[in-house]
Amino acid sequence: MSTTNQPRQITIFDTTLRDGEQSPGCSMNLSEKLEVAQSLADLGVNVIEAGFPITSVGDFQAVQEIAKSVSGATICGLARCRDQDIDRAWEALQHGTNVRIHVFLATSAIHREFKLKMDKQEIIRRAVEGVKRAKSYCDDIEFSPEDAARTEADFLCEVVEAAIQAGATTVNIPDTVGYATPAHFAGVIDNLMNRVPNIDQAVISVHCHNDLGLAVANSLAAVEHGAGQIECTVNGLGERAGNCSLEEVVMAIRTRNDYYQVETSINTPRLVPTSRLVSNITGMLVQRNKAIVGRNAFAHEAGIHQDGMLKEPTTYEIMRPADVGFTQTDLVLGKHSGRAALTDRARALGYHLTDEQLEAVFEDFKDLADKKKEVYDGDIAALIEQRNTRFVDQWQIVSYEVQSTSGQAPSATLTLARGDQQHTTSIDCGDGPLDALFRAIEEITGTTVVVRDFRVQSASRGKDAQGESTIEVEHHGQVYRGRGVSTDTVEAGTRAFLNAINRIEVGTNKNTT
Ligand code: KIV
Ligand code: ZN
Repeated sequence: MSTTNQPRQITIFDTTLRDGEQSPGCSMNLSEKLEVAQSLADLGVNVIEAGFPITSVGDFQAVQEIAKSVSGATICGLARCRDQDIDRAWEALQHGTNVRIHVFLATSAIHREFKLKMDKQEIIRRAVEGVKRAKSYCDDIEFSPEDAARTEADFLCEVVEAAIQAGATTVNIPDTVGYATPAHFAGVIDNLMNRVPNIDQAVISVHCHNDLGLAVANSLAAVEHGAGQIECTVNGLGERAGNCSLEEVVMAIRTRNDYYQVETSINTPRLVPTSRLVSNITGMLVQRNKAIVGRNAFAHEAGIHQDGMLKEPTTYEIMRPADVGFTQTDLVLGKHSGRAALTDRARALGYHLTDEQLEAVFEDFKDLADKKKEVYDGDIAALIEQRNTRFVDQWQIVSYEVQSTSGQAPSATLTLARGDQQHTTSIDCGDGPLDALFRAIEEITGTTVVVRDFRVQSASRGKDAQGESTIEVEHHGQVYRGRGVSTDTVEAGTRAFLNAINRIEVGTNKNTT
């Protein structure tokens, strides 16, 4: 009888909503987080780290709501090895079906000496206590020795052994500062695999940051040496240079299955829609030449390449665009398209709309289809996001009038509404019509910011395409992003600026409890 070797399954642990959200300006509101979590479950992610409940009311609510409503993946909440953190994480997770508490404590000499002021024995004691407390609430426990990649090899073995003995079912090895290189990191994993006596009682996970651009390479090296879980984020979002990019690591495993001989459960045609959703929600644009999900990832420009592609695509393509979710046809809707067609496209783009949301987006869609003959996927995504950015009880544009003549200062009159109150102001200074409108918004809302980046690009194609504006502003040392969409680029920019101001107001609920 012949036996077939089943490929090893690698668990994909997504931390877009926790580590990804820690990117400056990437904070999301509750409904945005729920949308991303649902999309991650549709993508086939195994574990979703939904937040760090002790850090803010927003994080707590997100973990709680996601645990209650998102099925198909294990929902995880982060906690330091402190009683209040662990209790709060459990409070948020307790109503979920499959849940995990992830506890962490730094172990490297530099963190022990300067950050924690604890000796090795104290670290082990606290790690064990943290794991045991988490274990008293649920079975699925992950422990991370923060800055593991810079921790002494012997001490790392001791901590990992103790954490597994205390009940950790997954031990995650973070390269917190993105310091590792592939051969070095493979050695860290080998050391644990060979020297920790109870290592077979837990899954070894890796969590690589991308400071040297090596997060994906380091994660793959770890998989080759026995790691069974990869922690990653959509579009590689995350602290500083970000985390291991989910789409890149998953497609490397799939495309080089001949070499790695492992599998993931990711439904790869959902990669592009999920990437777009996260980019639209966070306002973090995906660079055009980004591997897998960038707009140019499958574009062939050189004549020789185009010739080869026409003869046989595999001459220059190692993956098919459809495998990652690039559809060849950008389905066009028009003013005669109905709700069913809109729902269908919204779903294909990764959105789950309630009836109420669908009705609102349908209204906007009809308005747009009156202005613009053909409505593309990019336009639909932009309309949905535009609706998502309208938080209750915030500033909305009622009307504006702006005048700009070459050689003269612009003037703008703007009316904003908040609830049922309307406020109007007129400005006749600034560097241009948008600057005048931004100043008017600052005057009415009383919130002033420094603009760090401002862009307008087309949401789809054609001269009548909607302008999609993104803005990055700084307020009291914090970065906020805003988005705005309109067929009129001045309106798109104004909406983006106002969206950033609205996010500043919402962001004030991010206080540590
Ligand atoms: O980078 C890191 O060390 C982390 C841990 C909390 C896992 O994000
Ligand atoms: Zn991290």
